[in-house]
Amino acid sequence: MEGERVERILDALVQHIRVWLADADSEFTTSSPTSEEIRRRSRLTPPLEGEGIEGVLEGMDDFLKHSVKTHHAGFMNSLWGGFNASAFAGEVLTALAQTSMYTFETAPFASMVEQAIIKRMSELVGFADGNGVLTTGGSNGNLLGLLCARHNFDPLSVQMGFDGRNKVVMVSEESHYSVSMAANVLGLGISNVIKVRCDENGCLRTDSLQEEIEIAKRSNLDVICIIATSGTTVRGAFDPLREIATIAHSNDIWLHVDAAWGGSCLFSAKHANLMDGVELADSVCWDAHKMMGAPLICSAFLIKNANILKAVCTHTSDAPYLLHNQSEGLDLGRLSLQCGRRNDAFKLWLAWREIGDAGWARRCEEFIVLADYFQSLIEQQPEMEMMSTRKWTNVCFRIKSANIDLNVLNTQIRDKIMKRGKWMTSKALIDGQVILRPVIANSSVSKKSLQGFIEECLTCLKIVQDGEMLIQ
Ligand SMILES: Cc1ncc(COP(=O)(O)O)c(C=O)c1O
Repeated sequence: MEGERVERILDALVQHIRVWLADADSEFTTSSPTSEEIRRRSRLTPPLEGEGIEGVLEGMDDFLKHSVKTHHAGFMNSLWGGFNASAFAGEVLTALAQTSMYTFETAPFASMVEQAIIKRMSELVGFADGNGVLTTGGSNGNLLGLLCARHNFDPLSVQMGFDGRNKVVMVSEESHYSVSMAANVLGLGISNVIKVRCDENGCLRTDSLQEEIEIAKRSNLDVICIIATSGTTVRGAFDPLREIATIAHSNDIWLHVDAAWGGSCLFSAKHANLMDGVELADSVCWDAHKMMGAPLICSAFLIKNANILKAVCTHTSDAPYLLHNQSEGLDLGRLSLQCGRRNDAFKLWLAWREIGDAGWARRCEEFIVLADYFQSLIEQQPEMEMMSTRKWTNVCFRIKSANIDLNVLNTQIRDKIMKRGKWMTSKALIDGQVILRPVIANSSVSKKSLQGFIEECLTCLKIVQDGEMLIQ
């Protein structure tokens, strides 16, 4: 009977996977349901008495029916997306084998795989003797980078605590908000994150960085870390790492690089120069779940001096029931802020085995070619204008029309695009101007789908101009 139950659920699972993947060819990216509609159509409250397999099957249907098709070509909303069959297979087997990455004895193969991945990514970054660990994302990678910087500044802080009130961290004004989160968590405080001015391309200005460091020194503030960004969230800008490293080293400041979005350029001989000088950094975070398309979650934190990461994880010596001395070099739990931790390595490793470094390089280069093409389509449209220079696959533009506030216009066009459910793109601000920010991080995107997106924008412009929405 138990076998029959498992069989039915597995059959339904495979069937749902097939239907979902076939749906990538449909017209719609999202069914755009409201929360009321979801509540009305689905039974959300967990039942007091079980509903049996019928409840499970209905739940599967409801979930997929109301999920955004992130594998669909119309999904250009986030810095991730698409479907990778080998990584997906790895994800399923990971769930099947159910392990936790804290000890070698519970995750022998996965621990070795994670170390192999960290080693290769460290080599690509240029940390010959580096080490690292997979984390829950760039946000936690930035937190870990800042924690290592704190330890570097004050090695007693792990044991004795830390008064962050007269310490600061410097980042570009276009950096990711997770730096503020990390400053909050570490006791630095959000106002001790100094936002350094950017140039017209969204890259941190090193003259401003130097000035801010001087101001901090005159104010008796210690700069414990500079965080440079390789691939900013909105514009995809790359900060000048070599120059920043020179400033960091001459002032004895830790340099962490947030390469959550842009790290994959390191695979490509054509584009690796975007991160020129990264080997001079002290730590780097790099999301494989963004440009590389690994299923969420999959992200690496890499560090040049592995002893510092070990030192900030000293708390792990307090778990003799779990982390044993004889397996010290093998237990990845000693390098992590987490106790139980998913195996995020295997899926990436399977995908890597399929395509190799060369495949990641191709992916990155093809996405950039598509973004170039997309930009050229925008530049041909009199109703559209690019709102930022481009190095990466973020394509920041807006739609123009006479006699209408362009911030209102672009907000309403984006709302209309979302309601129609065929495409998804995010909206952001550059210098107070509302822009649309589609990104290419999804292998389903093609020249044809990009032409379709331009047509959709023009259709929505027409609808808004015809007054269906312009109620200000
Ligand atoms: C530049 C940058 N850093 C960090 C992050 C946070 O990454 P995650 O969502 O993996 O925590 C993002 C997310 O988009 C990002 O764009």
